Amino acid sequence: MASLGSQIANFFSGNDNDTREGLQSLFVSELKGIYYAEKQAVDALGEQADASTTDEVRNAFLQHQEETRGQVARLEDVFRSIGVEVDDKTCAAIDGLVDDAQMVVSETESGSLTRDAGLIIAGQKIEHHEIAAYGSAVTLASVLGYSDAARMLQQTLEEEKNTDRKLTQLAESFINQRAASEDDNSSSGSSQYGTQGQYSGSQYAGTSSSTDQYGSVNPDGSRYGDSSSTTGYNTGGSSSTSGSGLI
Ligand SMILES: [Fe+2]
Repeated sequence: MASLGSQIANFFSGNDNDTREGLQSLFVSELKGIYYAEKQAVDALGEQADASTTDEVRNAFLQHQEETRGQVARLEDVFRSIGVEVDDKTCAAIDGLVDDAQMVVSETESGSLTRDAGLIIAGQKIEHHEIAAYGSAVTLASVLGYSDAARMLQQTLEEEKNTDRKLTQLAESFINQRAASEDDNSSSGSSQYGTQGQYSGSQYAGTSSSTDQYGSVNPDGSRYGDSSSTTGYNTGGSSSTSGSGLI
């Protein structure tokens, strides 16, 4: 009988038939869950965009919604590339994360920057789930020798990481700072999350329309990426997610 070490080595390299069958089944199961999650994300991103206060956050969600539609189609290509029928499987994790995002909307004032801060947090939790799922799927595809599938999944993985970085930049640029001052205002007599409508999206429209899709310049004139004022909730720093959860 093979030693435990060689059994483990064979398992992770997919070098014996039983293991390959098991990993193949695991890979397809993971794909079905990701496919389900991406379809849920398309709807959730639309809801998050509708609920956003600022144009910058709304545009970030809308842009990723469009990108996510492409990711759904790419997953269908992945299924086809390995000769498996396109199918989905309920993913409880994404259902819970989408519920959390909806709770942010119900617990924050419409038109407040606190809502945008909460939506960014919820959005990053979804991205981190996807980064973990795609990272694992890339590894499984590589072990199984599905090079086309691995390449396509890697492409989506990079898009998810990029979205996570953009959400971090948005939060660090002005949302956190403004949301904090909003809370200060609320303690001097206005509503819990500041005056409703105080930070309507149109307030920032002039700024965003003169910059790139996320605005390369903050409302206060400084450039995104130069800011060092984080308030701590952005655990997904520009590079900190790349290693988390990935095999
Ligand atoms: Fe995605």
